[in-house]
Amino acid sequence: MTTSTQTAQEPEVRKGLYGVIADYTGVSKVMPETNSLTYRGYAVQDLVEHCSFEEVFYLLWNGELPDAEQLEEFNLRGRSYRSLDPGLIALIHSLPTDCHPMDVMRTAVSYMGTKDPEHFTPDTDHITHVGHNLLAQLPMALAMDIRRRQGKNIVAPDPDKGVAENLLSMVFGTGPDSPASNPEDVRDFEKSLILYAEHSFNASTFTARVITSTRSDVYSAITGAIGALKGPLHGGANEFVMHTMLEIDDPAKAADWVNNALDSKSLIMGFGHRVYKKGDSRVPSMEQSFRALAERHDGARWVAMYENMRDAMDVRTGIQPNLDFPAGPAYHLLGFPVDFFTPLFVIARVAGWTAHVVEQFENNSLIRPLSAYTGPEQRKVVPMDER
Ligand code: COA
Repeated sequence: MTTSTQTAQEPEVRKGLYGVIADYTGVSKVMPETNSLTYRGYAVQDLVEHCSFEEVFYLLWNGELPDAEQLEEFNLRGRSYRSLDPGLIALIHSLPTDCHPMDVMRTAVSYMGTKDPEHFTPDTDHITHVGHNLLAQLPMALAMDIRRRQGKNIVAPDPDKGVAENLLSMVFGTGPDSPASNPEDVRDFEKSLILYAEHSFNASTFTARVITSTRSDVYSAITGAIGALKGPLHGGANEFVMHTMLEIDDPAKAADWVNNALDSKSLIMGFGHRVYKKGDSRVPSMEQSFRALAERHDGARWVAMYENMRDAMDVRTGIQPNLDFPAGPAYHLLGFPVDFFTPLFVIARVAGWTAHVVEQFENNSLIRPLSAYTGPEQRKVVPMDER
């Protein structure tokens, strides 16, 4: 892949901003040389083992983990935003049932901006208020969207539940077969949210920072970020992973499928990364949760599919799985429809996006790169009657 071009006459051009350091950040650090990732100095694996999603959310915003009192206050505030907005319900029900659920998420955030009279107030407290509101409203929007497509009624949010359990119960109900009723399923789902919460200057976060750098509002920044995340080279990959696995169907055919795809120069979703070239720091933790879910939900077939695809890709190219590769089948085992996998990623990444919006806002410089022009030399307009 060409990362930069330069001749004696031309400036250096870094296509895709490959390798460019665009700004400082204190939110997270990606270390490809050691396949590791820290949020505010804590290894992501450590956070996955010991913290709730809410603790990690608090950490990303505030720079430190909360004590018990701070966490209680944070949860009380966040859960107080969990009331169903009749306008949002009506809006979601008015949208086509065959549109992509990411379009619903994007529209929901945009709508929320229209309802906030303070939306153009550029200050950190307001961005924090919006973050809490998004964390409360987006799981409801997602659950409502799934259930309306299945012809089911809304399940009301529960102010006593954490983000992960509340989301699962709004989507699947609270019956004995619901993953919301199985604490191990809730915890494995919560771990995926922690792993998806933040990842430095990825495309959607950078989009949010670009929008914030113009001093636009936080709803616009998150709406833009959702648009960037939807793409299959970014967050959309977790859906494509599962579509691929469902298409292959039989794990015994996985290696042939991978080799045929590579022969025809196709990209295989869930593999490769712009920054990690030797493996994604988040994969071992997500793989552990995926395997645990597979054991509880009769998912040996998907584990075999995972291993056979991964091994075939490794032998042929050495390209390693990224987080979306184990997350896709894990969400399938929990029972989510495939096209809702990237909206789940949105809910987790709201934490990172809003932390970056605050950071950009507090130390802003308009993001406006240059380009190397390749069009025609300057010329004169020939009037219409002479052309
Ligand atoms: N399948 C097949 N080939 C791949 C590949 C994949 N998933 N990922 C990278 N490659 C190939 C590239 O085509 C390139 O080949 P070339 O040298 O013949 O052009 C080579 O490996 C090096 O690619 P690289 O420069 O490392 O990729 P990138 O940094 O431009 O792109 C991604 C990174 C993530 C966009 C890319 O790996 C990809 O498209 N992956 C699939 C989508 C995905 O899973 N996205 C989620 C990311 S978390």
